[in-house]
Amino acid sequence: MKKTILTGIRPTGNLHIGHYFGACQNWLRLQDDYDFYLEIADVQALTDNFNNPEKVRKNIYEITTDILASGIDPNKVHIFLQSKIPEIAELTVFFSNLVTVARLQRNPTVKTEIAQKKELFGNDGESITYGFLGYPVSQAADIVAFDGELIPVGEDQTPLIEQCREIVRKFNSIYGETLKEPECMFTKNKRIKGLDGNDKMGKSLGNAIYLVDDENTINTKVMGAITDPNKIKKDDPANPDVCMVYYYHQLVNDEASCNTICEECKKGARGCVQCKRELITKMNEYLSSIKDRRRYYEEHPEEVQRILDEGTKMAREKAIEQLKKIKHAMKIDY
Ligand code: TRP
Repeated sequence: MKKTILTGIRPTGNLHIGHYFGACQNWLRLQDDYDFYLEIADVQALTDNFNNPEKVRKNIYEITTDILASGIDPNKVHIFLQSKIPEIAELTVFFSNLVTVARLQRNPTVKTEIAQKKELFGNDGESITYGFLGYPVSQAADIVAFDGELIPVGEDQTPLIEQCREIVRKFNSIYGETLKEPECMFTKNKRIKGLDGNDKMGKSLGNAIYLVDDENTINTKVMGAITDPNKIKKDDPANPDVCMVYYYHQLVNDEASCNTICEECKKGARGCVQCKRELITKMNEYLSSIKDRRRYYEEHPEEVQRILDEGTKMAREKAIEQLKKIKHAMKIDY
């Protein structure tokens, strides 16, 4: 029997190459060997976008199209929509009794996010909603509703998976051994830096290249990327290790070319403009099959809808079974 993998993504914006190298490539490696559930976490997205439902609605289709463009095979991965699985909401209610408010307030991921969302929640935290504070409980339900064993996530998600493990242990200690404790499965790929050298690539930082970006956009963005600030003239020697253009060459260019670029840069035998132009060509080549697939799905939105509907149908069957087992253990299987 294949082990079950579950992961989720909030539909709040398009996927950028940081997501592609950090997450999608990992999913691509896993899709053959596991029973893989990929949740479009629209309910979770609403916890901090409750005032902007159109944004979430639009991005469900954007992100599903991006995921398919990245090469995820819908015949291998069940891509499903969270809000269409009422069992997750039901399980969230049962789980909410197994976690204290104090514990949720101490959750490092939740704490960081609240600090970042001063606009939404205010400085004093008085406007933090019950739904937002409780989203780790809902995420635990996302996992357990599908009997998720392995959870491929970035390290920022560790406290959320740990919260799920605690809820599972509590459940099992009260209602008897029923649920599996999920484990994190970290990506080998490191987090991809932004065009400005920031450790994180993101929309709000304006330093990302998106899978939807056309050649002109990529051109403009790469031309604006940060290079060694000590290099003033075209033939000054420079340090490729502090150059974002070299950094991206290493992601999309072959090893021999990267070695040449590195040597030439150090010797002052390579101008930044030429180096950026070469990167633009390589980046476009690298993204071309992704772009082709994206274009296909953009032209066939009914197929994206069908894939989501079918993934959701399969996921729902699993969640219904799992909830039966859970309610039986809880003695509420009336
Ligand atoms: N919290 C995750 C994120 O922000 C998305 C997510 C929702 C998730 N449900 C999940 C991740 C279940 C792993 C498992 O990226």
